[in-house]
Amino acid sequence: MPHRQVIAIDGPSGSGKSSTARAVARALGLSYLDTGAMYRAVAVAFLDAGVDPSDVEQVIAATTGADIDISLDPDDRWVRVNGRDVTDEIREPRVAQHVSAVSTVPECRADLVRRQRILMDRDPRGCVAEGRDVTTVIYPDAPVRILLTASPQARLERRGGELGGRVSGEQLRDQVLRRDADDSTLVDFTHAADGVHLLDTTHLSLDEVVLAVVALAKEIS
Ligand code: DC
Repeated sequence: MPHRQVIAIDGPSGSGKSSTARAVARALGLSYLDTGAMYRAVAVAFLDAGVDPSDVEQVIAATTGADIDISLDPDDRWVRVNGRDVTDEIREPRVAQHVSAVSTVPECRADLVRRQRILMDRDPRGCVAEGRDVTTVIYPDAPVRILLTASPQARLERRGGELGGRVSGEQLRDQVLRRDADDSTLVDFTHAADGVHLLDTTHLSLDEVVLAVVALAKEIS
């Protein structure tokens, strides 16, 4: 049997990591894990339960008690939390606004990291996983580790394009720049750790980024 391929991709909002990771998983026939969707699903769970985001004990309880079921198929994205399909809801601005209440709590991170490792090991062919700490915490032993970056301007434009004008310029800056600043208090996803390949996507198309990642994976594996 061929060896498993594990590709870890990190980067800030709007760096193109979700589209890249999905396309790479498709190209190489691997499973795909969106670790950010799990943080977002937990945020939906605690908002549903009426938990005050500043009540850390309650946020931890909502996280560790959340039953998260997530698709690993790059062509069929869905996520369920506590039995409810929240695939679309996790992309709503209120979720983006409150998700840092989960991602800035070490106990919540530890719980999700444990589950993410299990999910990454599920498919015998291997996995492409993307997030903020895949290269450094979840899977530092992955043979292929990549940090995608892009200028703040490019990141704002990409996220704005994805949201299709549904948010104001101020909401957009809050979702991209403020959230990255909050999230980077516990994880450094702006500098490539030792052994992590840095890929600046500011002036690259999605196809060019995917080709570069696939080429790197073939070279290393
Ligand atoms: O990638 P995203 O925007 O869907 O991530 C949602 C939130 O979860 C974001 O605020 C950062 C956080 N996150 C994290 O802290 N660690 C991860 N591995 C993935 C996401």
